[in-house]
Amino acid sequence: MGNKLEITETILRDAHQSLLATRMRTEDMLPIAGKLDQIGYWSVETWGGATFDACLRYLKECPWERLRKLRAAMPKTRFQMLLRGQNVVGYRNYPDDIVQAFIQRAAGGGIDVFRIFDAMNDIRNMKTGIEAALKAGKIVEGAVCYTISPVHSVDYFLRIGEKLAELGVQIICLKDMGGLLSPYVTYDLVKGLKSRIPLPLHLHSHCTAGLAPMSYMMAIDAGVDIVDTALAPLSQGTSQPATEQIVAALKGTPRDTGLDLNSLNDIADYFYGVRRKYAEFESPVNNQIKTDVLVSQIPGGMLSNLVAQLRQQKAEDRLDAVLAEMPHVRKDLGYPPLVTPTSQIIGSQAALNVMTGKRYSVVAMETRNYVMGLYGEPPGPISEEIKKKVLGKKEAISCRPADLLTPGLEAARKEIGSLADSEEDVLSYALFPEIAREYFQWRDGRAEREQQQAEDASLEQRR
Ligand code: CO
Repeated sequence: MGNKLEITETILRDAHQSLLATRMRTEDMLPIAGKLDQIGYWSVETWGGATFDACLRYLKECPWERLRKLRAAMPKTRFQMLLRGQNVVGYRNYPDDIVQAFIQRAAGGGIDVFRIFDAMNDIRNMKTGIEAALKAGKIVEGAVCYTISPVHSVDYFLRIGEKLAELGVQIICLKDMGGLLSPYVTYDLVKGLKSRIPLPLHLHSHCTAGLAPMSYMMAIDAGVDIVDTALAPLSQGTSQPATEQIVAALKGTPRDTGLDLNSLNDIADYFYGVRRKYAEFESPVNNQIKTDVLVSQIPGGMLSNLVAQLRQQKAEDRLDAVLAEMPHVRKDLGYPPLVTPTSQIIGSQAALNVMTGKRYSVVAMETRNYVMGLYGEPPGPISEEIKKKVLGKKEAISCRPADLLTPGLEAARKEIGSLADSEEDVLSYALFPEIAREYFQWRDGRAEREQQQAEDASLEQRR
């Protein structure tokens, strides 16, 4: 990589995950895909994170078909996806055979860059995924999840980065899902990572607390190689800094991105319309600078989902109380970075604590599993009180969590049977049994409905 700053565009994944509860449909991506393909991005993030789940659950779309269609419409550009280590694109650990088959299929479907992270920064949860993506001949970014706590230091993050480099990743990603990175810490981290690890460095942050644009500039000064940005219409707030903003800031400097602002503006015009179309999924907090995220540490993608969840329960007014409870729960659980699935675990437990009015009078199943060690090793110690409550006389596990799982792909194939039309369907089912089955049934129903309509129409014609 030369001296120019490279850009990853997030508008097709993280930007709408963060601002529009992951609801953007493929039909709204395809009309502009050809133009995005011409920009010259280092990569475009198109897949992974919550998009897989959201496609099946809310949009009644096949995520694999989205990938195929986008790939066909954007032959030139590297496609990037976010993979949650052993959790793949779900919320729990899957057995190795499912992780491997998924990655192989995603690579075959057009993913060029796999950004792989684990919510706990537990390398054991990332190893299978990293090895599978490398075996598929793809670019692997090992992600270091950034967080702030008494047990996290610059040196801690550098050690995680070094462990990832030892596994053979080609790029290190500094992943700041909560937008917690402040400019001077960013400078130290980027300098440290660049000097200790001879690999390109990719920065990912969110504007939630208003810090990201400043942190990006410090990172650029400190020698970061690639940054994640989103086109202006879906930038700022809980999303990334604007692509245009970074491109404009570097024009004519040694780190000039070389991207053309006029072409970007042209695409932006299109996405202003798209954003209006999804207005119902907007949250009022999306576009304000919220420095209280530095306390709650809730990631961009989750805030819009948490608001949606609370709204469903007509408890939107409890949002502040839940956000205030999150740091307590996080401390009790050993200060995990907050990103899927830990953000959901902490968020749900905090919501339970607020709604019941008594901390841990109800302990969610996910909280139990976490304390058992089923999500990996927490960065700090778990509170003795909660340990006692959850474990009783039992001991938490100390092995890699996925070592306790038996292979699952063949069982999934048998279970879903002829409802699956393809190997991709089998994988969707292996990851999300209930919602995938529901989707397949809906899809079959749609096919029947369409056939019936066609028959009615031809009957009408013959009359
Ligand atoms: Co993000």
